[in-house]
Amino acid sequence: LREETPVRYDKVRNCWDVFGYDNVHRVLKDYALFSSVRGASAGTSMLYTDPPKHAQLRDLVNKAFTPREIQAFAPRIEAIAGDLLERARGGAMDIVHDFATPLPVIIIAEMLGAPQEDRERFKHWSDVLVESAADDSDEAFRAVLERRQLAIAELTDYFAALLEERAKQPREDLISLLLAAEIDGERLTPRELISFCILLLAAGNETTTNLITNGVRLLTERPELQRELRRQPEAVPDFVEETLRYYPPIVAVGRVAKEDTAIGDAAVKAGDQIIAWVGAANRDPAKFDDPESFVLGRKPNAHMSFGFGIHFCLGAPLARLEAKLALGALLARTGEIRALPDAELTPIPSSFVFGVKSHPV
Ligand code: HEM
Repeated sequence: LREETPVRYDKVRNCWDVFGYDNVHRVLKDYALFSSVRGASAGTSMLYTDPPKHAQLRDLVNKAFTPREIQAFAPRIEAIAGDLLERARGGAMDIVHDFATPLPVIIIAEMLGAPQEDRERFKHWSDVLVESAADDSDEAFRAVLERRQLAIAELTDYFAALLEERAKQPREDLISLLLAAEIDGERLTPRELISFCILLLAAGNETTTNLITNGVRLLTERPELQRELRRQPEAVPDFVEETLRYYPPIVAVGRVAKEDTAIGDAAVKAGDQIIAWVGAANRDPAKFDDPESFVLGRKPNAHMSFGFGIHFCLGAPLARLEAKLALGALLARTGEIRALPDAELTPIPSSFVFGVKSHPV
């Protein structure tokens, strides 16, 4: 598609698909022309707002997500990864279910300051938030939507109660920090605070799960990479970076054109939906040498798996750290990681998410 129809109109979904690196980059960079205000959450969560509102929301939370702040969670991430692996002592585990799913959920719940006993509920809510319909029927679609609305209602109540507690008695957690955060004398409204907490669950959990799983999948598909990383554990961050390019957890992001414009040869009208396929851009030979090869230590590696520009993933430092420590712990505790011979990898049924439902090793 990238070669034959670099920009094309999808009549079924009523949107433009943009595949090549330069055009995807332009769509993400030019936020004035290509808006993020769309869908049910338009205007409330930072992911779906434009400047100046976007900058206000993001500036309030940015400082909790810098690589330095995030580094403080390294010991907890290592301890939790170690615990999860300890439970699989028999030698067999499902990477998705037993390792890559619980890790980010536990970390985000701890960051927010939710009590430990609520972990299971968090896991349930974050699963429902990213759930996709079992098939194409209206019924399946409606069922997912209903479950999602219920989860959002439950989460809203949950966070409202937690916010009230922390407002009375602040602690050293993200909720307390968000409650106190001020920019130009402005604070987040309770509604914005709650919607940010929900955004963290929806944006951060399944993506990180898939990054870790996609990494393990590459290790089982290419045992030589495993040998290389066992010899050279300091190359794990490079491995994570190339995994992001090669098997990106999110393959596409959406925008809406604000004015008539051209993308390549396509005449785009104001109001048209645009899907920027970062997964296709990441393998564009005009940008990457030998793009279909997995190159450990590829430099430069300007993949767009965390997006680009003002909406560049807020959680990127956390996702990178979690993936590095999770894969590092797994490699350090195993002699060899192998996919079980009869295990079939079932893709997650989604056009935008790249991952598998389970990965027994
Ligand atoms: C934004 C990917 C992990 C929070 C984004 C965007 C992408 C992305 C592509 C840009 C969307 C757009 O431009 O419309 C990923 C991937 C992850 C990951 C691949 C894991 C490997 C996380 C984590 C968190 C997080 C762990 C938080 C705990 C966010 C937020 C935004 C965002 C809040 C919105 C930023 C904004 O609008 O300014 N992410 N993400 N993400 N991500 Fe992530």
